[in-house]
Order: sequence, then C-alpha cells, then structure tokens
Amino acid sequence: MVVRKAVIPAAGLGTRFLPATKSLPKELLPIVDTPTIQYIVEEAVAAGITDIAIITSRRKPALEDHFSPNEALEALLSASGKPALAAQISAIADLATFTFIEQSEARGLGHAVSLARDHVGDEPFVVLLGDDLLADDGKHLRSIVETHDAQGTAVLSVRQVPGAEIARYGCVDVMRVWDGAMRVRGLVEKPAPEDAPSDLAIFGRYVFTPSIFDALEQTKPGRLGEIQLTDAIASQAVDQPVYARLLRGSSYDVGSRFDMVRANIEFALRRADLAEEMTAYLAAWSSSQPVTAPLAG
Ligand code: G1P
Repeated sequence: MVVRKAVIPAAGLGTRFLPATKSLPKELLPIVDTPTIQYIVEEAVAAGITDIAIITSRRKPALEDHFSPNEALEALLSASGKPALAAQISAIADLATFTFIEQSEARGLGHAVSLARDHVGDEPFVVLLGDDLLADDGKHLRSIVETHDAQGTAVLSVRQVPGAEIARYGCVDVMRVWDGAMRVRGLVEKPAPEDAPSDLAIFGRYVFTPSIFDALEQTKPGRLGEIQLTDAIASQAVDQPVYARLLRGSSYDVGSRFDMVRANIEFALRRADLAEEMTAYLAAWSSSQPVTAPLAG
C-alpha cells in the first residue's frame, strides 16, 4: 500500500531553547528564515507524503497558523510589489493536507503517536521527529519507505554516534542483512553507554504499519514515566521483523543548541543568496583567530 500519511509530533515544551520558546513553539525556530518544521514537512512531501497530522498542544496556535492560508499577508505582499514572496507564502498551506491533533498531557512520544490512530486508520504511515533535520530532498525517507514497500514491516532510521552520545537516543541491536539495511533484534531507549547494545542511535524517521497502535496501547510507561515509542517497537521486534536503514551523510539534531547553530551556518552556505557572503565571513573570521602553536620545549 502506498505510504501517503505522516505524523509529526510537535507538542514538546522546547525547554532547551528558553527563553526563545517562552511564547514561540520550538518547531517555528528558524534555520536562516524558514521554521524547522517546514523543512520537515518539505522533506515528507519530497518523499511522496500528501497527508500530514501534526500532534500539537493548545499552547501553540502559531503552528497551525503557519500551515494555514494568510490572505491578508499575501495581499499586502502583492500590493507592495513582492509577488514572488506572496506566492512563496501561499504555497506553504498547499504543501499537503494538514490535520492538527491536540496532545493535552505530556505523556511521551509513544503517547503522541498513538493520538493519530483514528486519523491514520488502516494504512502504513511515516513518523518524522522535528528535532532531526536532513537536507537531502527526502532521499533517506524515500529509502525507508522503499524498504517498507519491499518488506511490509516497520522500518526505522539509525545513525552511528560516537561513544557516550548513545545515552541521548534510542539504541538498536541489529543483525546486518544487506547493504544499508539491517534486521532489528532489540531496542532500548537512552541506555547508559556501558549497557548500549551498539553505537546505532535511532534517528527520527520511521515507517509503521497500523499494528504499532496496538503495541502502543500495551506499552507501559518506561523511561521518565512516559510511553516510549522505542518500547512499543521493541515489543513488535520480539515476534515480527523490524528493519533499520543506516543514515549516511550529514544530519542535524536541532534539539541541541550546537547543532541548531551549525544547521544555520551550513544551510546558509547552501543558499545561493547567502553562500558567497557567508563563506567570505567564515574565512575572514577564522583567519583573524590567533593560531595556537604547540608550546616549545
Ligand atoms: C526521541 C526518541 C529516541 C530517538 C530520538 C531521535 O528522543 O525517543 O529514541 O533516538 O528522538 O532524535 P527525544 O529526542 O524525544 O528525547
């Protein structure tokens, strides 16, 4: 069955980006001039998704506003001689069919995904996490969907992380089956580095069959007392095949402040309107830094 629906959990508080997130949803923090969640939506659309459910909270009406038409702004832009910008703004609401589902209590990622059950119905669907950013025009997401098409099972994305970083992510235990794709033997959410079964961290791209909703219903609160998506997948992996695809190439965990800054710099370097100025600035800045020579003797 064609995968055409996506679920994007976006109800989190964004405490790492306070004070910016005091009144602004963290998903609307920009990379250059575009909200992070718009990049996530564009990636899903590039991979063939046409229907997107955003799990949000009542405290974040600006999220729904961003994906709704704003005729007054478009009229103002057209009237002030900016028709291209008006068209760009009007295209946002047409990227996909959007549905907003409210998560009224913070009960974890698994709980957030479970709220999409009625909307998803009897179809496979993808989940994209807004903190995990790619700049690959949907290529990696398409490869996960293709593995799902071939196997008919849940498929998730993993990437290698160095050392103790694994404690920040879901971790998978895998058997290698073919180039780039692996059968998942087990999963654990945010293990202590010494207990981690591998250095493969779950990256926030998944394809699920509707059976994940039954698994989520059976899942007891886990780490932090929350319903963990990783625990629900782990229960599925016990008696059915679950696959993982390795993400190669650059990605950004924009839930971290450092990667947020790095993403801004690298996205600016990729933009025709900013690349030259940004490159010159970075070169001038680094050549103005004192060279730290090794101490003699
Ligand atoms: C979530 C998932 C985790 C995954 C991570 C990827 O964690 O629970 O398994 O590795 O996203 O970004 P969170 O970032 O919400 O703590």
